[in-house]
Amino acid sequence: MAIDRFGRNINYLRISLTDRCNLRCVYCMPEDMTFRPRAELLQDDEMMRLVHLFAGLGFRKIRLTGGEPTVRANVVDLVRQMAAAPGIEKVAMTTNGLLLDRLARPLAEAGLQRVNISIDTLDPDRFKKLTRWGRVEDVWAGIRAAEAAGLEIKLNAVVVRNYNDGEDLIDLARLTLHQPWQVRFIEMMPFGDVADFQLAGVVSEEELRAKIAAGLGPLRPVNDGQLDGEARLYQLDGAPGTIGFISSVTQPFCASCNRARLTADGRLRLCLLREKEVDLLSPLRDGADDDELRHIITDGIWWKPWGHQLAQDVIPLNRVMSEIGG
Ligand code: 5AD
Ligand code: SF4
Repeated sequence: MAIDRFGRNINYLRISLTDRCNLRCVYCMPEDMTFRPRAELLQDDEMMRLVHLFAGLGFRKIRLTGGEPTVRANVVDLVRQMAAAPGIEKVAMTTNGLLLDRLARPLAEAGLQRVNISIDTLDPDRFKKLTRWGRVEDVWAGIRAAEAAGLEIKLNAVVVRNYNDGEDLIDLARLTLHQPWQVRFIEMMPFGDVADFQLAGVVSEEELRAKIAAGLGPLRPVNDGQLDGEARLYQLDGAPGTIGFISSVTQPFCASCNRARLTADGRLRLCLLREKEVDLLSPLRDGADDDELRHIITDGIWWKPWGHQLAQDVIPLNRVMSEIGG
């Protein structure tokens, strides 16, 4: 088992397959984002070697992120290999959904179980504004394909003041009245170059809940308000679906964090919102054996930071979100 010095059992690995994306959401990256040369990224065999080591250390769940994970060549094959790795029980993905139209079925057949699809508004114009060029119809095609392929689906919306904090919230929340889906609202987190914009635009869970309740009626806590993973769940009267809030900024869930992240360039990132990272790519390419790599990983996890310090104005500046994976 991989345990940190606070006694947290770290068994959930989020892997960024690429820092590239086919969109440029305003809260995620600058429009003129430059990406890393491919040679600096983990190659398929390097990634799989690390996955087997993590599985041997007790990691049970993998979530693939990006950038946009579906733009990585061989994504289906990587999913197949990860799902088959001894010890790995669940492989999930966070995606913008644009390519699911053709990839949902092969991914599901390869062993992918869940997708979290980002859809920040149902309004085509505002969707375009938030993503800089995306078409919300393409996301819907992806959602339908994921459903048809039998994938479990959650929808994610990052809320940005003056972009999608009005009727968009109500329209998204209303989906849960008709579908057994989980729609989750995410507080925007600050990173690197985009931090000023993000801090100015964050909308708190408290405000979100008040706006949704004003539009659609009272929100009832599910499971007595206990966290479901990172989300706190609520339900509208008579709704088959649930509404979740991921409130990393105003209500951090660091105490129950069980994650580590592997960046596309082969760094072990111990906390999304802290700069601390451990380089795995260099030792791997310098010929480290499995024991050495295992030692570097367990030592890194031991020193996982307790949590973020946004309240003390400590903001991670070394990377933006698309380089870490959500
Ligand atoms: N804060 C919170 N969530 C973010 N995401 C991207 N950037 C941010 C941010 N600054 C979300 C995406 C997607 C997941 C990968 O992370 O919308 O749901
Ligand atoms: Fe791409 Fe996701 Fe970032 Fe949007 S949030 S630019 S879809 S990686």
